[in-house]
Amino acid sequence: MSTFQAPKGTYDLTPPRSATFLAVREAISAPLRDSGYGYIETPGFENVELFARGVGESTDIVTKEMYTLTTKGGDQLALRPEGTASVLRAALEANLHKAGNLPVKLWYSGSYYRYERPQAGRYRHFSQVGAEAIGTEDPALDAELIILADQAYRSLGLRRFRILLNSLGDKECRPVYREALQTFLRDLDLDEETRRRIEINPLRVLDDKRADVQKQLTDAPKLRDYLCDACKAYHEEVRALLTAAGVAFEDDEKLVRGLDYYTRTTFEFVHDGLGSQSAVGGGGRYDGLSEMIGGPELPSVGWALGVDRTVLALEAESVELDLPATTSVYAVPLGEEARRVLFGVVTELRLAGIAADFAFGGRGLKGAMKSANRSGARYTLVAGERDLAEGVVQLKDMESGEQSAVPLAEAAAELAKRLG
Ligand code: HAM
Repeated sequence: MSTFQAPKGTYDLTPPRSATFLAVREAISAPLRDSGYGYIETPGFENVELFARGVGESTDIVTKEMYTLTTKGGDQLALRPEGTASVLRAALEANLHKAGNLPVKLWYSGSYYRYERPQAGRYRHFSQVGAEAIGTEDPALDAELIILADQAYRSLGLRRFRILLNSLGDKECRPVYREALQTFLRDLDLDEETRRRIEINPLRVLDDKRADVQKQLTDAPKLRDYLCDACKAYHEEVRALLTAAGVAFEDDEKLVRGLDYYTRTTFEFVHDGLGSQSAVGGGGRYDGLSEMIGGPELPSVGWALGVDRTVLALEAESVELDLPATTSVYAVPLGEEARRVLFGVVTELRLAGIAADFAFGGRGLKGAMKSANRSGARYTLVAGERDLAEGVVQLKDMESGEQSAVPLAEAAAELAKRLG
């Protein structure tokens, strides 16, 4: 071990587990790529104001969890704590919304940073795959995104996840509810910090995990009773489309989410095998965010799924992903001459699109065969001086154990044929 370790709240992805992470990113993005979402990549840091305005000054993410820094040039930056504000900023900057093709559908995959108290499933550096559909108000778009996330999780073989669904209302009805809730909350017996929260973000109080707080909330006014007719109809349509698609969900009126930009549809994917950090993904509609960051009115919806927690969910369900071996052919040279010849064959195989690896470092037959086994290769090529003198290599089928001599000049073609 070196003197250094990964910083607190972070961990490294190393083989073989790292292959599962790649497969999860692939599985989550595949349904998006097949549904008209284009790939977007934005910087790992942004102007700190973007998140303060976008995610919200009253959220834990902005007040407690952002990694901020001042550059030598005096710019105030923050490592991105989430992707939505960045993606919308980038779409506006590139004028994607003006190309006359709404919604602008984008997907992304990357690292995010939050200075949280680390625990199982909660890290300071984590990874999300996300999707944003910008510029269109249509319940089918909300439904599409939820269905695609459901499809992604199912394709991975996950079963013990649930979809929680809620509507947070819009700029017409939510303020009315907010006030009614504040009036109710101000009369309760609560600590100072919670009292402060009533004034900045009363909906978050509903989210309080403490039993004594929850007990007092039984008779709190319900957002459902305050939704305006337009919000109600919109929500009913999302629910109907999900039901028609055979996607099961649970109505959860306590679902408020930790970011301020949400309006109307909000949802979370939770997994029952993960303990307290059970949200494997979440998202919703954010019809006002564009205007909050200085853009035009662009009603939008999106989600982000946590890759780390999705991997933990797979492990909790003991799902083994069917990860094909990365190497098909492993070459084992015995001696200097064979090393040159087989290295040439390996290069030829790779150019032909066959995944091949080589026993580097002039190791003995036994050690090299061990590596060949570990690589998962279907075939091994072995050649020593005598083989070369006869113009052949030994081709071993690692599944059946059968071995046969193949003319050196035909080795690559023979392997291509056998590997189909
Ligand atoms: P979020 O709910 O903050 O939403 O994060 C989405 C997912 O990222 C969570 O469900 C969780 O799986 C994962 N995640 C968040 N924080 C951590 C952490 N500290 N450690 C490990 N995993 C974590 C958003 O970020 C929104 N931008 C989603 C969205 C997109 N809404 C609309 N569009």
